[in-house]
Amino acid sequence: MMKTTFGPQGILFPLPTTLVVTGSMQKANIVTIAWVSLLTSQPPTLGISVGQKGFSGEEIKKNREFTVNIATTDIMVESDFCGITSGKDLDKFEKTGLTKLPSNIVQAPIIKECPLNLECKLIESNIVGQTNHFIGEIVETHIDTDKLGDSENPASIIIDSFNPLIYISGAREYRTLGNKIGDAYKIGKKLL
Ligand SMILES: Cc1cc2nc3c(=O)[nH]c(=O)nc-3n(C[C@H](O)[C@H](O)[C@H](O)COP(=O)(O)O)c2cc1C
Repeated sequence: MMKTTFGPQGILFPLPTTLVVTGSMQKANIVTIAWVSLLTSQPPTLGISVGQKGFSGEEIKKNREFTVNIATTDIMVESDFCGITSGKDLDKFEKTGLTKLPSNIVQAPIIKECPLNLECKLIESNIVGQTNHFIGEIVETHIDTDKLGDSENPASIIIDSFNPLIYISGAREYRTLGNKIGDAYKIGKKLL
């Protein structure tokens, strides 16, 4: 198989489509962010890339907290809307009809329609190229109880009931998650 090379390109997929919320229950904004990654497990942290031109970057710097909410296929249109409009111009909660719920620890609300919500406190902020890179410590986790096999165990998420909205960078497409095909950390033992 031949390979075609393209030099430096930001193409990596699939990515989760997340809705990052800033502000408070009184006045909050939603921005669609797919450039997101877990960074460490102890403490749990994640990184998000947020453009400097939009409304949300300055809000995160000012408030030093935000929530990350996992979008599902049911709210694809609303999620896309939050990625093509700015909180500088309109109220995205009002326009989309998405529902704010209070967080436990941070001021920024979580989104009811998203089955997984992570409350984050900003612990580090850098500018990489033209973009803010924010590192958030995850200080609280909310999961819809009806999507848990065992309400005591966050790892018991029933993935088939989740329907995350998958984003393909480069092609700029939304996709659904496919079926389970193996058990991670086990299937590779076939080659031991
Ligand atoms: C699917 C999708 C993914 C996006 N991912 C990012 C991202 O990771 N980082 C970013 O800065 N902007 C991303 N955007 C663009 C922002 O959501 C967009 O610039 C938004 O209008 C900024 O809103 P704000 O001004 O209210 O902050 C994405 C847009 C879409 C539709």
